[in-house]
Amino acid sequence: MTAVEIKKDIYWVGAIDWAVRDFHGYETPRGTSYNNYLIMDDEITLIDTVKDDFAEVTIKNIQSIVQPEKIKHIVINHIENDHATSIDRIMALTPNATIYITEKGKKGLARFFDISKWNMKVVKTGDTLNIGKRTLLFLETPMLHWPDSMMTYDKEDKVLFSQDAFGQHIASAVRFDDEFITCESMYELDDAIADYYANILMPFGQLIKSKIADVQKLGIEIDMIAPDHGIIWRANPGKILQMYMDMASGCAKLSVSIIYDTMWHSTEIMTTPIMQGIKDEGLECKIIKLRATPMSVAVKEFWKSRGTLFGTPTINNVMCPTVAQILYHLSGLRPKNRIVGAFGSFGWGGGAVKGAYEEFKKMGLEISEPGLQINYRPSLEDETKCYEFGKEFAKKVREYHKKFES
Ligand code: FEO
Repeated sequence: MTAVEIKKDIYWVGAIDWAVRDFHGYETPRGTSYNNYLIMDDEITLIDTVKDDFAEVTIKNIQSIVQPEKIKHIVINHIENDHATSIDRIMALTPNATIYITEKGKKGLARFFDISKWNMKVVKTGDTLNIGKRTLLFLETPMLHWPDSMMTYDKEDKVLFSQDAFGQHIASAVRFDDEFITCESMYELDDAIADYYANILMPFGQLIKSKIADVQKLGIEIDMIAPDHGIIWRANPGKILQMYMDMASGCAKLSVSIIYDTMWHSTEIMTTPIMQGIKDEGLECKIIKLRATPMSVAVKEFWKSRGTLFGTPTINNVMCPTVAQILYHLSGLRPKNRIVGAFGSFGWGGGAVKGAYEEFKKMGLEISEPGLQINYRPSLEDETKCYEFGKEFAKKVREYHKKFES
């Protein structure tokens, strides 16, 4: 992939990672990209770098436009490894460049590199950098999604370089939203956005809303959003802003996900009549078997649905480990505005369903009680109970969903 001009004299000089399927434990079936940008103004400026494995790629892309030693300014919006670990390679080529970074970014970067010989300028919200015909405005976005995070706004071109925010894990031969929708599909793009948000940004909904409000208060117009992963928003940046506002406000589909695991298929058998009950109440339903599905996909489906039922057999008086694992992971993602319930089979003492409800309570989720436990194998009579359990849950999901309808 070569450099791509995204606006006059502004180039994408990043790298496409077609092969990555495990992104720090998060499944990335579509791969990803590490986007960084070169602004060819009187004072040449690089916005972000890429993951160290791809340092050569970005250097070649930069060289296709200009010799790297001519870069005068380097903005580091975010120090996570996938964006900042090739900074040493870039600085070796342009040692007199100045790095613009937040205070926390500078402290963090010093844990990865010897920064003592680098020119570093700490910036905060409202600070600007004039690079010739353009002025760059810095906006700190702490905890979106790291303490060091910030965005950079090009006032003249109205481009927001948004680091991870508004990104998606997509490797593609095209760079822009309109191109992607034409060559792939709107559904795939929307799904990638939900996937990224659910797995990375779910804990930060309130912050996202307040930061978008801050941007609106500044009265800045946005013509293009250029994130550090995936597709660049040039045709419809308003779409991704609205999607983020909706997701941060707790929007979800009026649907149910059943996320389960099973030992000897008894809990698995329960899922079908439960699903039928949900469907007969008019709600869509997806069934996700944890052992056959990457956890990030299950997290995404949990996030997309207003309601989720977790199915777990009892093993040694507690939940099946895969179900315990996803609930533990979800507790860190701090989900809100979702209703949950649990079901499962047991042999003698039981305990898994009770354990699931204890986790739900800790997370502060809306809870549908009671759960449903079936001894050993579901009988036909038990399957009727499962069907009614599904119907009852669907009714509660529909009722709860009304809170979010305007
Ligand atoms: Fe894409 Fe927070 O790194």
